Amino acid sequence: MSMHSACSGEVGTGSPIRTCADHNYESMARLRSNGTCSRAFLLALVFAAAGAARAEPPGLGTPVSEAEVAAWDISIMPDGSGLPPGRGTPAEGKLVYAQKCSACHGENGVNPAAPGAGPLVGGKIDRIEAVKTIGNFYGYATTVFDFIRRAMPFNEPRTLSNDEVYAVTAYLLAQNKIIGENDAMYAQSLPKVKMPNRDNFIIRFPDRI
Ligand code: HEC
Repeated sequence: MSMHSACSGEVGTGSPIRTCADHNYESMARLRSNGTCSRAFLLALVFAAAGAARAEPPGLGTPVSEAEVAAWDISIMPDGSGLPPGRGTPAEGKLVYAQKCSACHGENGVNPAAPGAGPLVGGKIDRIEAVKTIGNFYGYATTVFDFIRRAMPFNEPRTLSNDEVYAVTAYLLAQNKIIGENDAMYAQSLPKVKMPNRDNFIIRFPDRI
């Protein structure tokens, strides 16, 4: 498209030559005689270019399938939605814990050994420096499951089976005396566990919820 056909309209005042960045003297001459290069036309050009860019993507990457997204979409809500099938008891979890967790978090969830790995059991939040554990701090048992499944063991995340995650979660809840020694955890039972600290969170901006 030439500037000649593009820039039509009123007779020029001189300034349009500056707004239409065109170093072709012939076009400038035409501009002078034919009129202004309208702002609307320039905008149209910009949108036409954007449209062309949309029509021809850069060809990077590959489309993501639903199944691929589902593999990473593993968040669990406090009401238990997202919990997978499976189950585990504290006794089963004790074995998982001994093999895959105790090296960092300490025997029975106290006295952790690895830098950054906190205790998982006990404690009271009675002062600002108090150590927070899943037992005294977390609001929902489902968060314990979610965190362990996605992030632990720290050196091999996402290697536990769902049964192992249920079991080690059950073990840690029992160690914290939140559930009984024989209570199995599974998709229906875990969301019913009431964590001791659940009602102590203050919602800072309730009107935004
Ligand atoms: C190699 C060391 C290591 C191993 C093994 C390990 N963890 Fe951890 N764990 C960590 C570290 C480090 C953190 C802190 C991570 C962070 O803050 O992001 C952590 C954090 C956690 C938390 C969150 C604690 C909190 O107060 O929020 C839980 C729960 C947990 N681990 C459970 C487990 C379980 C269950 C296993 C075994 C299946 C396990 N960990 C194995 C190092 C480890």
